[in-house]
Amino acid sequence: MALKVGMLTSGGDAQGLNSTMRGVSRALWNKEPDTKILGFLNGYLGLMRSDYRHMRDHDFSGVLTLGGTILGTSRQPFKMINDPLHEDEPEGISRLEAMVQTYKDLGLDALVVLGGGGSQKTANVLSQAGCNIIHLPKTIDNDLSGTEMSFGFQSAVNIATQVIDGIHTTATSHGRVFIVEIMGNKVGWLALHAGVASGADVILIPEIPYDPIKIFQALQSRQKEKKRFTIIAIAEGAISIDEINMNKDERKAHRKNVSSVAYHLQNQLADLMVQETRVCVPGHFQRGGSPSAFDRVLTTKLGVEAANAVLEGDFGKMIGIAGQKTIRVSLEEVSGKTKYVPLDDPVLLAARQVGIFFGD
Ligand code: F6P
Repeated sequence: MALKVGMLTSGGDAQGLNSTMRGVSRALWNKEPDTKILGFLNGYLGLMRSDYRHMRDHDFSGVLTLGGTILGTSRQPFKMINDPLHEDEPEGISRLEAMVQTYKDLGLDALVVLGGGGSQKTANVLSQAGCNIIHLPKTIDNDLSGTEMSFGFQSAVNIATQVIDGIHTTATSHGRVFIVEIMGNKVGWLALHAGVASGADVILIPEIPYDPIKIFQALQSRQKEKKRFTIIAIAEGAISIDEINMNKDERKAHRKNVSSVAYHLQNQLADLMVQETRVCVPGHFQRGGSPSAFDRVLTTKLGVEAANAVLEGDFGKMIGIAGQKTIRVSLEEVSGKTKYVPLDDPVLLAARQVGIFFGD
C-alpha cells in the first residue's frame, strides 16, 4: 500500500516537534516502506499554498535532539479560516477551501498536524470538511484537554526551573525579592511545575487570582523569619482579585499599559515594599533548545501511535497520553477546550502543603 501522508507543524514552536515527526515517519516507513511523506512548509500556510517537500529518511537523521521545526511554522489564526486566501481577491476561495483543495489535489490519504489549541481547532474543521486528520498535541503550556501532557511542556519546565534556580543565588546574595514571569498563556501549568521544582516561595497562576496585599504580608512574614529573599514565580496569564471581572481592555488600562504581569506586580508591591524587587522574564527562551529526555521518549511514543492510527485508518483523532499509555481521543470532543489547573490538582495541593503561597 503506497500511502501519501502530509505532515505539518503549526503555531508557536516547542521542543519535540522534530522528534515527533521522526517517530511518525519512521514508524510509517517501517510498516509501509513505500509511504510518501509530504512536509508542508510553515504550518497551514504551506497547506494553503501547496508548498511542500518530499521527506526522506535522511531528513530525520540527527533530529531527535534538535529543537524548533525542520518544516518551519507560522501562526494562522483560526478566526481567519474563512477569510479569502488572497486579500486582494475578496470573492476568491477561502483559506479553508484552499487547504482542502491542496489535500484533494495531492491525493493525500492522511494529514498529520502537530500543533496547539488554535491549530487543533483548524485540524478539527479540516476533519469535518472530509480530510483524514491526526492531531499531535504540542505546546509548552500543557493546556490541551484530553491528554495528560502535551510535548514541549516538560522541556519548558526544565528550562524555567533552571532560570529560577539561577535567580536563587542572586536573590540570596542581595536579599531581594525576585519576580520571575513564566510562559503558559491562560493557564498555570508551567509556572506551577517549574515553581515547585525550583522551590519558589510564591506561585501565582491564572486559576487562583492573587491578592497583592496578601503577597506583601507573606513577604513581611518571611523577613520576620529572617529569610533573606523571596522568589515569586508568576504565570504570564495571572490576574489579581480586582481584575477578575475585567475584560482585556479594562485590564490593560488597569495595568497602565504595562504588558508584563511581572512588572505590574512589581508596581503593585512598590508602594508597600522596602525590600528591593527585581523582575526576570525568560520569555521564548522557554521554548528553545533540545527536547528533554522525557519529551524525546514521549514524542517517540506519540509519533508511533499517530502512524498506527494512520495505518489503521482511524482518523479525526488526537493522540494523547494517559498514565504511561498513548490514547486516541475524538478531535471533535476536545477541540477548543482549554485544560486549566484544577484546584484539587495533586501538584497544587502538595505545593500548598509544603508551604508555597498562592497569593489567595
Ligand atoms: O503557546 C505557547 C506560547 O509560548 C505561550 O506560552 C505564549 O503566551 C505564546 O506562545 C507566545 O506567542 P508568540 O511566540 O507568538 O510570541
